[in-house]
Amino acid sequence: MRVKRLLPNASLFREAAKILPGARLDLMRWFSSHARNLPWRRKKGLRRDPYAVWVAEIMLQQTQVATVVPYFEKWMKTFPDVAALARASESEVMRAWAGLGYYSRARNLHRAAGLIAEQGSYPATALAWQALPGIGPYTAGAIASLAFDAPAPILDGNVVRVFSRVFALNFLPENGREQREAYWKLSGIWAAGKHPGNANEGLMELGAVVCKPAVPLCGACPLQSACVARKRNWQETLPPVKQRQKVEIVTGAAIVLKNRNRVLLETRPQNSFLAGHQLFPMFLDKKVRDWRKAFAKRFPECVKEQVGSGTVKHSIMSKRYVLEVFLTTFIGRSSLKNTGTESPKSTWVSQDRVDEILTNSLARKIWKAVKD
Ligand code: ADE
Repeated sequence: MRVKRLLPNASLFREAAKILPGARLDLMRWFSSHARNLPWRRKKGLRRDPYAVWVAEIMLQQTQVATVVPYFEKWMKTFPDVAALARASESEVMRAWAGLGYYSRARNLHRAAGLIAEQGSYPATALAWQALPGIGPYTAGAIASLAFDAPAPILDGNVVRVFSRVFALNFLPENGREQREAYWKLSGIWAAGKHPGNANEGLMELGAVVCKPAVPLCGACPLQSACVARKRNWQETLPPVKQRQKVEIVTGAAIVLKNRNRVLLETRPQNSFLAGHQLFPMFLDKKVRDWRKAFAKRFPECVKEQVGSGTVKHSIMSKRYVLEVFLTTFIGRSSLKNTGTESPKSTWVSQDRVDEILTNSLARKIWKAVKD
């Protein structure tokens, strides 16, 4: 092939049908001796534990393997099976998730555990997994294939990179329907055949440890003889670079109100960011110029002096929050109706319990800023 493929066409699928079955065998042989020893890969008898596979796949959705491992180990001790997870309270679940971010994953995992416990069995197909909250096509395919050996396709950044290089695909799934369907179709060809679980996990592994984004280790790759990028030296220019999503900077301020040994926490309202989390009162209002004045108006029963405690920066999805943090003393009677907050659920909590209660990294950063 002289040029990279700009669009999928019939010759791509002819070539795939010809080379993928052999490449799949080579990859599975490689995977059987090179798989990393990760805790969710341990078998229970002959099979993988579907619960472990499912929890790991959810944790791995937006988080790297190295970060996930200790959380996963602790999680399995706290909630060893789906029944234990279904029985747990939301706050126990959020506490175990604290620090992993993207908290809707934990809420959905908990809800799905309730549904599975109610049904009394795990779904066995990708389609049935996809009906559960928080489970998209990739995760459904990963769980159905790894835990149940269903011939379900998977597609994530690792898989895209491998296929883009092997077939010299100079496009991405997000470029359009035809492109997306082409990648899914290749993944479907890959998954069909014996041991789809191992074939899929081997593909993930190859993308993670060999067919890496910046400096792929082509000399160690079991697919090197099939790979067009390797032959043409295109491995560093494939797949094409993604258009970067713009990061929106959101400025605001948070205030830590102290009343004797207690501080005020609010439950974030529904449909706001970090909905349902406990956080210090904050403003995220473009129109507010003077945060001190805004807080004084909202909390008239505080001493006038608000101590600036620095700036906290925190990214959630495509937003970067830059918050000024203030500390002040509340001198009114601590009855909450006098706090003037728009959030209905505010509570005074003992300072000793704050570390245990806060389940999100932003709140922890704010707390650290006033403590240090
Ligand atoms: N990324 C997504 N799923 C994975 C798995 N099962 N093992 C390693 N990395 C992964």
